[in-house]
Amino acid sequence: TKGDPEIGATIAARVCVACHAEDGTSPMPNTPRLAGQHATYLVKQMKDYRAGRRTSEVMGNFIGALTEEEIPHVAAYYAAQEVIPGVVTDPSLLDLGRRVYDDGNPGSGIPACSGCHGDEGEGTRRFPQLAGQDVGYTVEQMRRYAVGERTNDRGLMQTVADRMTEAETLAVAQYIASL
Ligand code: HEM
Ligand code: HEM
Repeated sequence: TKGDPEIGATIAARVCVACHAEDGTSPMPNTPRLAGQHATYLVKQMKDYRAGRRTSEVMGNFIGALTEEEIPHVAAYYAAQEVIPGVVTDPSLLDLGRRVYDDGNPGSGIPACSGCHGDEGEGTRRFPQLAGQDVGYTVEQMRRYAVGERTNDRGLMQTVADRMTEAETLAVAQYIASL
């Protein structure tokens, strides 16, 4: 079913805004921005939390506040929010981050992030938007993919994350925040 952003707004106001804010730019550390994210991706992640395919203590609790029918509406609401630039905490890492994002690292077999997530981090229906994402959140998700703690559809991301050095991960997270 197609979500209705107006219905989604009232549902989000009930519980999600405490952490994801009304405009989808989280004020909380290590919490993902949802603004402008593809609705199909948001729906999928919410269903994965609900079914236990993606585990998070925080979201595992809060997803229970939504009914199955409410999920597409909340997704449509956050997808409709404007993407505003993220917060870069270490600009000195942006050059390395751009290189990793655009070209990967052929020496260690890291593919270009842009190949799936788009030149500007815009993503597609299939691949999540990364543009403007919170640095701490991105670093933590890469760690989880690498060690197998984020298990939902980790096929593609696990190999990518596993081949990255800590310095590359931090740098690419800064670049993503700048997009
Ligand atoms: C992750 C939606 C409430 C904190 C997410 C994600 C979605 C989402 C779709 C995944 C984002 C992505 O993959 O990029 C919602 C909705 C809520 C809600 C619809 C209302 C029912 C909350 C609340 C908190 C919170 C109240 C804080 C207490 C987080 C955190 C993550 C997250 C920390 C990252 C979890 C992880 O590492 O898997 N949320 N959220 N959320 N949310 Fe929420
Ligand atoms: C998800 C980063 C390369 C496919 C993600 C997420 C991050 C990320 C942080 C989680 C998004 C969120 O939770 O909101 C990166 C970086 C890359 C890279 C930094 C380059 C070093 C790729 C490539 C592919 C890919 C090359 C395709 C071959 C995916 C898919 C998901 C994802 C399918 C979502 C999985 C799901 O639906 O749960 N990526 N990515 N990524 N990435 Fe990448």
